[in-house]
Amino acid sequence: MRRRQTALSRREFLAASGAAATGLILPQTNPQRAGVIGRPLLNLETLEKFVDALPIPRMAAPSGTRPEPRRPAQKIPYYRLAMRPFAAKIHRDVPATRFWGYEGTSPGPTIETRSGEPILVEWVNQLPATHILPIDHTIHGAGREIADVRVVAHLHGAKAPPESDGYPEAWFAPGKSAMYHYPNQQDAAMLWYHDHALGITRLNIYAGLLGAYVIRDHFEDGLRLPRGKYEIPLILCDRFFDSQGQLYYPVSPDPESPWVPEVFGDAALVNGKLFPYLEVEACKYRFRLLNGSNARFFSLSFSNGLQFHQIGTDLGLLPAPVPLRRLDIAPAERADLIVDFAGHAGENFQLLSTILPVLQFRVARRPARESGGLPATLRPVPKIPESAAVQTRLLTLGEKDDKAGNPMTMLLDNKHWSMPVTETPKLNSAEIWSFANFTDDSHPVHLHLVRFQILDRQSFEPEEYYKQGKIVSLANAVPAAPNEAGWKDTVQAHSRMVTRIIARFEGFTGRYVWHCHILEHEDNEMMRPYDVIA
Ligand code: C2O
Ligand code: CU
Ligand code: CU
Repeated sequence: MRRRQTALSRREFLAASGAAATGLILPQTNPQRAGVIGRPLLNLETLEKFVDALPIPRMAAPSGTRPEPRRPAQKIPYYRLAMRPFAAKIHRDVPATRFWGYEGTSPGPTIETRSGEPILVEWVNQLPATHILPIDHTIHGAGREIADVRVVAHLHGAKAPPESDGYPEAWFAPGKSAMYHYPNQQDAAMLWYHDHALGITRLNIYAGLLGAYVIRDHFEDGLRLPRGKYEIPLILCDRFFDSQGQLYYPVSPDPESPWVPEVFGDAALVNGKLFPYLEVEACKYRFRLLNGSNARFFSLSFSNGLQFHQIGTDLGLLPAPVPLRRLDIAPAERADLIVDFAGHAGENFQLLSTILPVLQFRVARRPARESGGLPATLRPVPKIPESAAVQTRLLTLGEKDDKAGNPMTMLLDNKHWSMPVTETPKLNSAEIWSFANFTDDSHPVHLHLVRFQILDRQSFEPEEYYKQGKIVSLANAVPAAPNEAGWKDTVQAHSRMVTRIIARFEGFTGRYVWHCHILEHEDNEMMRPYDVIA
């Protein structure tokens, strides 16, 4: 992140908050931030670590069956998930925090389904009329004339019909609900549901509106991967808490326009707890990791340098396990991991975010039953050949700054949300989308509806583009890393690089969206509608 020479710029505030999270700056002792952080923050340094057990989100249970919308003779499971305020303890020694969550929990209950078995979910808004976090009414779609509290649920990674996709403008106010149909015609993977209301997604998710959604299938069953108590979701969300233990969402120095360009909280919650511990047996575990943060890219490793394997990406299994000692995961990305605790009986060690512990593992003394080997191959990921693409789109990721160099909006292809649709792929056709990132930050770019493959990344010189009107590459293209070479729905588009993806637009025609998954960006114009056409 580039630092600029302006007093108290938004950008510097962010740089400072990022540093705070690595323990290098104490938020309370940085006078530069006094005007921005409006209240004293929870002092993480003095909190005793690893006193709370890692919670596992409970499983959602259907509340009956209903006719399948497209084949009314068939009855399918029906779930009802209500969004409500609730209070929960993030830590033994911190007073209960007020959150918003699905069914009064955050993360919400995990929905588990099987590929090819459709379900219905009724999303119910039982929230109060006033928001608990600061709304910026100057942002498009968040004006004072509409309800402050509004929600729309999106199932991230789902191949869902457009009317069930959670279009950002399809929000509904407290007292209302929406019935969504998820066909689940897709491979085993961990998806996640979260709020997507236009202009306040960052606040609704920060308040707690997210949860996991697991699809299983026969292929995955056949691999005999760790399951039951050996398969654990790890949902990471960074947040700020004030000294009373309440959620704190930073604001800009301008009270009329409190939006800030990114939030990097100094507290990393795992399944809703701060510094939890997990007792494990000395055998293999499968961790289904989700980065549910607004903006933070986590760089994860173990304090003892343990090697682990990534077996799946956002939307399914990799062709083969990829050994890793560090994992960089962007907002909205998922990683399916196998960690083998054999050989570490009796040890305690931690999962680290950069250098800070986020979760402690306590490995049992007693050697565990033999947990079997890791399969050498997993699931083939047939390459979509570049020659299959009928269209290549060059799409810029750009930033508009004010005179002081503070970012004001991030734009996709230099277009605002409300401008006419420009991306119109044909149903069942393949396209290459090239994201040319002119900004100094990485942006996790997400497409609804489709799964894609990363082709490559290539650095380019933005100045040359301004002069010549074309991309001038500076180096050879680098293919996707082995742990990205599977089905993806979110890709890290790095600064001054062209990141190319290829997708087949299958499933449904209709209106979807693509956007940056840094929620502050997405809320402030870094999101575009797109149409899949017949
Ligand atoms: Cu995670 Cu548009 O969504
Ligand atoms: Cu999505
Ligand atoms: Cu972005």
